[in-house]
Amino acid sequence: MVHGRIQIKFNAPLAGGLGWAAEDRRFEKTCWRRWQPPRLRFGPAKTLCSHCSRRWGKIFQMTRENVLKFPSGFLWGAATSPTQVEGHIKNEWTNFTAQDGGHCRIACDHYHRYPEDIEWMSKLGVNAYRFGIEWSRLQSAPFAALDQNELARYINLLDCLQAKGITPMVVLHHFSNPPRINAAGGWTNTATIPAFADYVRKLVAALKERVYLWNTFNEPDTYACVAYLLGGFPPQRKWRLGQFRRVVDHMARAHVQASRIIRREGAAGRKPEVGIAKNWTFFHAYERFSPWDRVTALVCHYTFNKFVLDAFLGGWRRRASTFIGLNYYGRVRFRHFRAMIPASGTPVKELKDFGFVCDDMVERYPEGLEKILAYLQRKFRLPVHITEHGSASADEKFRERDLRQNLAALHRSIQSGADVRGFFYWSLLDNFEWQFGYTKKFGLLAVDFTDEKLPRTMKPLAGVYARICRENAIRE
Ligand code: FCB
Repeated sequence: MVHGRIQIKFNAPLAGGLGWAAEDRRFEKTCWRRWQPPRLRFGPAKTLCSHCSRRWGKIFQMTRENVLKFPSGFLWGAATSPTQVEGHIKNEWTNFTAQDGGHCRIACDHYHRYPEDIEWMSKLGVNAYRFGIEWSRLQSAPFAALDQNELARYINLLDCLQAKGITPMVVLHHFSNPPRINAAGGWTNTATIPAFADYVRKLVAALKERVYLWNTFNEPDTYACVAYLLGGFPPQRKWRLGQFRRVVDHMARAHVQASRIIRREGAAGRKPEVGIAKNWTFFHAYERFSPWDRVTALVCHYTFNKFVLDAFLGGWRRRASTFIGLNYYGRVRFRHFRAMIPASGTPVKELKDFGFVCDDMVERYPEGLEKILAYLQRKFRLPVHITEHGSASADEKFRERDLRQNLAALHRSIQSGADVRGFFYWSLLDNFEWQFGYTKKFGLLAVDFTDEKLPRTMKPLAGVYARICRENAIRE
């Protein structure tokens, strides 16, 4: 059930302020200490006596606060991915050096410290955790049996979550593959599809009693774009449009197969749910009348939003998913062909001069969340999970504002009929942010990477989020 805004509006200003003084009578009359005859004048409103202003002040504070309630059973989660937090991984990222010189070989050591991190989650009060299972840990070669030790570790992680009442959402592919798959061309090779389906079949058989929420692919668009067009992710190819399209197409076919397996063979108790996580970015021109920037924005929209969405959810393929995972961060605006975002190298300060509100990655655009949710609802009529949203900044006030604005937009969408079932904050921990290394701080928890014990501490935003999770609501 969605509760509406609880809001009581009073027209008369509390103290000072311009207004019809006559309206103040409502309050003045309530005070036995001071009564004044009504006077109608336009100018500074009558100030209440100190007795009244204190009393009404308190009541006003309580009633002015908007409490935006979310549907009961809403999932409030945090998200991570194996390469970014686990450490001790052998995939294409192991020997990758990020722009800051960092690597993922230890990362947050979540591999060993997951019990402690689950304790943190419990303190945060999240009731869901979206995390990845690393394919390269479980299958040493395509079609091989699953590694039982690694499987036992993931099973233990799932049991720890269950003990804390935290619902898992498992991601099957998050920007990494086993070395043998990469050596054979990764997702540009059609043979990767049956190999992935085999892995999924074995994993689902092992975990079906513990998992019902499955996320097959995380951001296939980002993966294919940054690995095959921009050269940021391994195998660091540039402008291979054919490979980009092939990767997306192969992943979409693998999603359909994986989804069939999960829905047919993954039912043990609760009905399995399956979907991809699509990153949605708005692409706009900075100057409305700049034809070239408009064309650039349109091409990006068609390539990364429309083409990818159609590949996974277009026509009959829509039936493969029971939900849509939406990763939403904001927008990219173009000026003279340049993407005006910090992630492309434009400093936040410079962007501020253009009137942009950015975290350390992209421009924030909370109203976009309402737009994309309305579009997805109209077009696909599937439930949605916000599988990622978060911001990277050293300014915790900024992050709080960003979270509140996006959650308020989400709440408005739900009120207008969008079927949104959960929200997963990116990320639980400060972590290895791919090509940027450790410079982008998305965590609810800070990790001190200079200390070899990698201690975690709650950031101020964690307290804000904990209250939201606990109350299933935001207070404005
Ligand atoms: C998303 C990725 C996630 C993280 C965040 C900041 O695109 O899925 O791993 O990098 O961005």
